[in-house]
Amino acid sequence: MWEKKPVLFMLLATAAILVGTIVTMVLPFAWVNTEADRIEGVVPYTPLQQEGRDIYIREGCNNCHTQTVRPLVSEVLRYGEYSKSGEFVYDRPFLWGSKRTGPDLARLGGKYPDAWHYKHMDSPRSMIPGSNMPDYKWLRDGQVDPESVRNKMEVLGFPYTEAQIADLSGKTEMDAIVAYMQKLGSDIPWREATQTEIVGELTNPFPGDPAAIAAGEQVYTDNCAACHGDNLEGDIGPELAGAGYDDAMLFELIYSGITDNGMPAFSSLGSEKVWQLVNFIQSKE
Ligand code: HEC
Ligand code: HEC
Repeated sequence: MWEKKPVLFMLLATAAILVGTIVTMVLPFAWVNTEADRIEGVVPYTPLQQEGRDIYIREGCNNCHTQTVRPLVSEVLRYGEYSKSGEFVYDRPFLWGSKRTGPDLARLGGKYPDAWHYKHMDSPRSMIPGSNMPDYKWLRDGQVDPESVRNKMEVLGFPYTEAQIADLSGKTEMDAIVAYMQKLGSDIPWREATQTEIVGELTNPFPGDPAAIAAGEQVYTDNCAACHGDNLEGDIGPELAGAGYDDAMLFELIYSGITDNGMPAFSSLGSEKVWQLVNFIQSKE
């Protein structure tokens, strides 16, 4: 019926398309990145972090790593609190990415100590056996150019101080990328909020069991040796042999981590493997 009235039909079709366009395109422009979207505590990158971010882009790290935790249970359990739009207001361009050859990095800041990152960037396999991430040792040879970083900060309109620019001389590209890694996702205090709580009595299910100790040794080699040394002698983390903890305390330390001090939580291993670790470590006292 309407198709016989071309002018009316055209007007109605235009109106329908306009409504669709306004709802799906124009309104989000008004909603996103408004004052209400800002999160207190999210601050622009410092000059060193910004330079690290540019190196991250130059090296194409975003081809293997995403930087956004989706609001799905499995992702939140693995990476931490899901990403909020307000956390990306200073990301120009954003680096959400779409390919995860390596893990998501959106919540990386504070997960490891600086020393871990330097070693991991030198040679990922020294920290994670079997990693297929390339070595970036040579970033230690690249010097940061303070004046070029100053220009970038000006263009981006980010605040900086003369002291921060002066501090850049002598810094390597490796320093910059590690500073950037430690800033990722750490502006909002999510770690304390998502700490796993241990409920119930903690009793060692296999005290002194040789099979558990042997299994624990393997778990140790795969997850702990990079930071605590091949023979528990200590490296990035402290020596573990003879630390004198009781079983329950040791379980809790490993399961929940000391995440504000660079000891990751290992609840993801599951309690059986953590108990195997406890028995392995206690066997070394
Ligand atoms: C070819 C793909 C690839 C590229 C390119 C790559 N990575 Fe990775 N990355 C991985 C894989 C796989 C892992 C997991 C194993 C490991 O930790 O080494 C990983 C792990 C990491 C981790 C540890 C994450 C965690 O939560 O344990 C960091 C940090 C990291 N990469 C940073 C970088 C940076 C910075 C660059 C660029 C300079 C980069 N990666 C380039 C594949 C890649
Ligand atoms: C990324 C490096 C890293 C990894 C991996 C790591 N740790 Fe740690 N660990 C640390 C650091 C750093 C500390 C010191 C934290 C502190 O004392 O505040 C620590 C502390 C500890 C402590 C307390 C020791 C003490 O004397 O205070 C225990 C126990 C421990 N780690 C066990 C483990 C076990 C078991 C694993 C493997 C499942 C492991 N850690 C993996 C870095 C690491």
